[in-house]
Amino acid sequence: MEYTIVPMTAEHLDQVEALERTIFSRGAWSRKQLEEICSAGCAAALAAVTPDGTVVGYASAQAVLDEGNINNVAVCPQSRRQGVGSALLEALRLFAAERQLSFLTLEVRASNMGARALYARHGYQEVGRRKNYYEFPREDAILMTLEFTT
Ligand SMILES: CC(C)(COP(=O)(O)OP(=O)(O)OC[C@H]1O[C@@H](n2cnc3c(N)ncnc32)[C@H](O)[C@@H]1OP(=O)(O)O)[C@@H](O)C(=O)NCCC(=O)NCCS
Repeated sequence: MEYTIVPMTAEHLDQVEALERTIFSRGAWSRKQLEEICSAGCAAALAAVTPDGTVVGYASAQAVLDEGNINNVAVCPQSRRQGVGSALLEALRLFAAERQLSFLTLEVRASNMGARALYARHGYQEVGRRKNYYEFPREDAILMTLEFTT
């Protein structure tokens, strides 16, 4: 599959919003949140787009001082296991390097073994657990962090 990772802009938002609703249902980011992350100076919002303009994945992260927090990483079901998630994570790592962040961190559902495997493969380490962090269904979050050495 041919795709490129580009900054997420207004032209992608209908597709991203639809994917967000399908993939995350409850807990999905609203249109307003997506618009805000696209325009925030301290954030990276990225889309993986095929040559015909189809958004097959997206990710975003925010920096606060030297700390980076990954908000979302998602790939449409038909395009998984083809490296899109990895390409998005690599782009977020570059964002972190440009900003000279100390680390990137994220929360993931304890049962989400696929995402945990993806993050582990990219060097993220499990550093903690937030009890009952998620609802519908109620579940712990695993806290994962990628540290950068200077
Ligand atoms: C998690 C997700 C982003 C992975 O995207 P992807 O494009 O399929 O990931 P990649 O193709 O880059 O996978 C790279 C590696 O990660 C691991 N991996 C990814 N998905 C996996 C799965 N479902 N089960 C086990 N390992 C998995 C594998 O090691 C994989 O390499 P391989 O395909 O050579 O075995 C995607 O499954 C998704 O959108 N899931 C729903 C949303 C979600 O859970 N987001 C994370 C919330 S924190």
